[in-house]
Amino acid sequence: MEYRGYDSAGVGILTNDGIRVIKSVGKVNDLTNVQDLNAISGHIGIGHTRWATHGKVNVENAHPHNSCHGEMSLVHNGIISNFQQIKKELENDGHKFKSDTDSEVIVHLFEKYFSSGNSIKSALLKTVNRLKGSFAFVIVLRDEEIIIGARYGSPLIIGLGNSGSYLTSDILGFIEFTDKAVFLENEEVVVLGKHQFEVSDFEGNMIAKHVTQVAWEFGTPTKEKYSHFTLKEILEQPLALRRVLSQDKEQVELFCKKLRSKPRVVITGSGTSFHAGLYAHHILKTLAKISSDVIISSELYPHDIDHNTSLLVLSQSGETADALKATRIARDAGCQVLSIVNVTGSSLARESDISLPLNCGPEVGVAATKSFTSQLALIYLISSRMGIGDDNMLADISQKVETVLRQAKKIERLISGYTDARDFYFIARSIHIPIALEGALKMKELSYVHAEGMAAGELKHGPLALITQGTPVVVINPMDDSYQDTLDNTIELKARGAKVIGISTVSNEVYDDFIPIPKVHPSLSPIIEVIPLQLLAYYAAVKAGQDPDYPRNLAKSVTVN
Ligand code: AGP
Repeated sequence: MEYRGYDSAGVGILTNDGIRVIKSVGKVNDLTNVQDLNAISGHIGIGHTRWATHGKVNVENAHPHNSCHGEMSLVHNGIISNFQQIKKELENDGHKFKSDTDSEVIVHLFEKYFSSGNSIKSALLKTVNRLKGSFAFVIVLRDEEIIIGARYGSPLIIGLGNSGSYLTSDILGFIEFTDKAVFLENEEVVVLGKHQFEVSDFEGNMIAKHVTQVAWEFGTPTKEKYSHFTLKEILEQPLALRRVLSQDKEQVELFCKKLRSKPRVVITGSGTSFHAGLYAHHILKTLAKISSDVIISSELYPHDIDHNTSLLVLSQSGETADALKATRIARDAGCQVLSIVNVTGSSLARESDISLPLNCGPEVGVAATKSFTSQLALIYLISSRMGIGDDNMLADISQKVETVLRQAKKIERLISGYTDARDFYFIARSIHIPIALEGALKMKELSYVHAEGMAAGELKHGPLALITQGTPVVVINPMDDSYQDTLDNTIELKARGAKVIGISTVSNEVYDDFIPIPKVHPSLSPIIEVIPLQLLAYYAAVKAGQDPDYPRNLAKSVTVN
């Protein structure tokens, strides 16, 4: 679970002497420096990797959190928005809190109900019905051979194995042991034993759950010979692009039919998926003559959509809280929800009317790379099936990407000339603008250098004032209708002293550094031109001594609003 949060970690293991809790700041490996976990015997345990929302990054705020006398221990993913009020009430009742987190109120609330004579299940139901916000939590009890849990918003999945059972935020948590999963829906609680489980809703009504066989083939991702998952996933893109095209023909046709079935299309996503949405907006219009609006998921409100709308949601993880919130707003408005997701069993895939998988394999590096180019390729495939595109043009796209990847070493040398940069600008026009935005996002999240992507035509309307001697600017400018205008903007930048990295199908003396890319159809060029930007950001991070896989303050799947 480390890629979902890595500022601190902890475990709670049920031993003969009670619940043994080990916590530390940093990654899971740091935890094992505190205590050799294998030296602790026990067959029931809970664990957590934290992405701090409430309370500083320190050992006290790391999970698990114990009840007052240590009879229960909790781990939680999400945000309890009414924690202050509940905390006050519990402190008045005499409960002692050891952390500044919102999460700790859950175990004390459960303790309050359980120690006042309620059964485990009724104490659990009373607890969940008091909480506001989002939560997936798990509690272990000193005197019980069970683990209990609840889901409201954040993901929670049961894994059923031969030698035991699991409750995790993501199938990756148990995929090496079993491929039998039971996905908890919202407002469900579970009591899990070694080989049996009971699920009910927040009213206590039992719910029959079916077991899903999840994709075993990807297994637990490893770095193999690569120094980082991010580099491995960048170099995996030719294979990922071949995989993304192996779509179920009928499912794609049905998806296209549904996308056309409503008079209005709204596209939404967060971060890199939002940038893929901007590409989708462009390509649906040019290839399929479908107009659409693109709205950042955290900015999608009920007034933006109605029952005449198809909402197309893009998400690698399928668990991004903002994307799920937008989906639920759409549902409430009677919209049809279509999604493109990489994690097939995810909440978004299950909450959509129809969902297409990216098939690009698990993406562990927090920075989205292969999932982004796979999103673009699948969007192109859908658009071309609905319009004038020719998906044969996708056939050799993975080879073209391979040719760009062969420049990795050169790009590593190139970025050495920019290690003092404190600001980076990325400019482009037309269908290439989402790539300028994506390049800037990669540079920000991987190298921690301020970066901004923008429409080249906007420079003269303000941003040009930022340019001084040596200011690094990356120009994405393959030969197409927008080429000359972008080149003119580049010359204006040079006149102000900018140091220009040109990414294009044709070289030009205006570039201080040049990264050639192969010529492809303009609609497909964004898939090619983003590759050098991923490598620039990756090598900038490595040269700055950052860990590209686990950028500070970020998480792979942002499950809180
Ligand atoms: C991209 O590199 C970031 N990890 C982040 O912006 C990400 O794209 C965003 O959080 C959306 O994630 P999703 O595609 O899993 O929904």
